[in-house]
Amino acid sequence: MWGLLRSRRAKTAQETTAHLTAAKSCLSHRRWFGVASAGKMAPVRDPSTLSNYGEWRTKHTTANLTLNFADKCLHGSVLLELESLTDKASTEIVLDSSYLAVSSVKLNAAPLPWEVKPRTKYLGSPVHIALADGAAKGDVVKLEIDVATTSDCTALQWLTPAQTSNKKAPFMFSQCQAIHARSLFPCQDTPDVKSTYDFNITSPYVVVASGVPVANAPQEIDGGKLYKFQQKVPIPSYLFALASGDIATAPIGKQSSVATGPNELKASQWELEHDMDKFMDAAEKIVFPYKWGEYNVLVLPPSFPYGGMENPIFTFATPTIISGDRQNVDVIAHELAHSWSGNLVTSCSWEHFWLNEGWTIYLERRIQAVVHNGDAHFDFSAIRGWTALEEAIGGFGKDHEFTKLCINHKDIDPDDAFSAVPYEKGFHFVWYLDRLVGRENFDKFIPHYFGKWATKSLDSFEFKDTFLDFFGAPEYKSLEDKIASIDWEGRFFSTGLPPKPKFNTSLVDVCFELAEKWKQKDFSPSTSDISSWIGNQVLVFLNSVQEFEEPLAVEKSQLLGKVYGLSNSKNVELKSQYYQIAMRAKDSSSYQGVADLLGEVGRMKFVRTLFRSLNKVDRELALKTFAKNRDFYHPICRQIVEKDLSLAESK
Ligand code: BES
Ligand code: ZN
Repeated sequence: MWGLLRSRRAKTAQETTAHLTAAKSCLSHRRWFGVASAGKMAPVRDPSTLSNYGEWRTKHTTANLTLNFADKCLHGSVLLELESLTDKASTEIVLDSSYLAVSSVKLNAAPLPWEVKPRTKYLGSPVHIALADGAAKGDVVKLEIDVATTSDCTALQWLTPAQTSNKKAPFMFSQCQAIHARSLFPCQDTPDVKSTYDFNITSPYVVVASGVPVANAPQEIDGGKLYKFQQKVPIPSYLFALASGDIATAPIGKQSSVATGPNELKASQWELEHDMDKFMDAAEKIVFPYKWGEYNVLVLPPSFPYGGMENPIFTFATPTIISGDRQNVDVIAHELAHSWSGNLVTSCSWEHFWLNEGWTIYLERRIQAVVHNGDAHFDFSAIRGWTALEEAIGGFGKDHEFTKLCINHKDIDPDDAFSAVPYEKGFHFVWYLDRLVGRENFDKFIPHYFGKWATKSLDSFEFKDTFLDFFGAPEYKSLEDKIASIDWEGRFFSTGLPPKPKFNTSLVDVCFELAEKWKQKDFSPSTSDISSWIGNQVLVFLNSVQEFEEPLAVEKSQLLGKVYGLSNSKNVELKSQYYQIAMRAKDSSSYQGVADLLGEVGRMKFVRTLFRSLNKVDRELALKTFAKNRDFYHPICRQIVEKDLSLAESK
């Protein structure tokens, strides 16, 4: 998943000045331009939207959409209720759109002039809508837009029946984070705007969405069934989600079900039912009660490009977590934690993405520590995270912009900036604050922070203010010096690794010891070496073998795969990590296995890393494998692998 990405050219002096001039003119966003942070972030609060959301704010969205599987198209109308924010009558509404076919825009049933402007690369083509009479501050206008997706849509993947496991029905799912909601319908596609939603979705097959089903839906209508959902908690556009297909459900907890293909249902239920309520109970104790009603998991077909996506009501998850050993359910703890960090309290732009992901990793690790009854698990996971952070920073180069906690997104596609950095550097910042003030005090700050910002979006500076206000209270007087010692500027804007904390290494030491043995000539391994381990310990061991100065000899690599059952493991985490070792060892007998795996999973974390390595050892096979599976991969994955394999320039 974590990208090793194209290096960016350095900014010219001229660009830097332009940046600062723009910054000064942008009064409503003064926070960016305190002396300390001037020029470090893009000059607008969210540089990844072309909408004029400073003038208008979406309050409610009604999506009346029909799925047309034959044409692989989602079409219908969206009703946007937009509030005017400016004093002067605002006469233009600009919305984000990407590869959409807009056919009409109406205001109270009367057509309005509108124009789809030319495309600005990944930001898409803004729709400009003229309101002759404008609207006074506080007025709400109701725009109705008729729209259809096109074959270039980046948010949807349509699978034919043949691409599903029971081959009975087609399947469709959406993935809107970070800026793909604009390829479903015109909207203010920024995490800084939150809207409530009504979903009226027509499909011949079962539909799930990021809203709560409305009683007495679905209703039989022409062209299928009408499924209705409501999302009464305001959510950003990137959390809009739909899926439809031959979907069955089974309970996994008090307020939770798993939904997936009928063939996968039993295994998915088994995998998740053991931990679901434990995760929920732990999370609610750490923060405060869950605010969304139901928490369900949709296990998707294998081309789902992420491990999990925290769509409210229905987390979307990769089937690779259904590994038959309950070893990969931490993904669910993570997505559940987003119900507070990300979904309730949201970073206002992708520049402050760490507020979503860093906080979520922190909460996920706290949940794991409760569930496994021990801090060793927290540290074990943190050590794995540190390795991922080192790898990401090594890949970018330690001075790269993308290694900062707060990343300037001017001219940056958020999908390109995506890496372990916001996750793990973000985690380390939160954990550092936790240790600085002490767990007891920090545990009081957690509900305060999530309560204060619930249903809102914020930036890193607002986070800082919230922290300083809270710990500025007289009862925390004794912490004054510690609080004053926080180098906010350095933490937000330094490149490279943050200070390394002292970890409890009890769960990793055994992994490193076994790895050391593999360096010895006369070591004879046996299954019992790892039989008492948890799956993730094997990953730490494999990672450490992968890091050896010298690659393993081919025979040793093959022995490793055989003796620990890795080469035929059902657990894709293990299998792909083993293949990395095999490819580094130049064990050409493993390459076809890699190519086969690349046709079975579409999760970018595996696809990208496997392709990169295969490309190094056998480019021909890599290209052949990509061409063969192109249609299997999700559009986002397809695009990014094309870049990784130098097959395409960014659009
Ligand atoms: N929100 C992310 C997935 C995401 C991030 C999608 C950015 C698109 C753009 C999700 O919560 C996530 O972090 N998933 C991880 C899970 C892991 C950290 C447990 C993944 O997909 O691997
Ligand atoms: Zn996440």
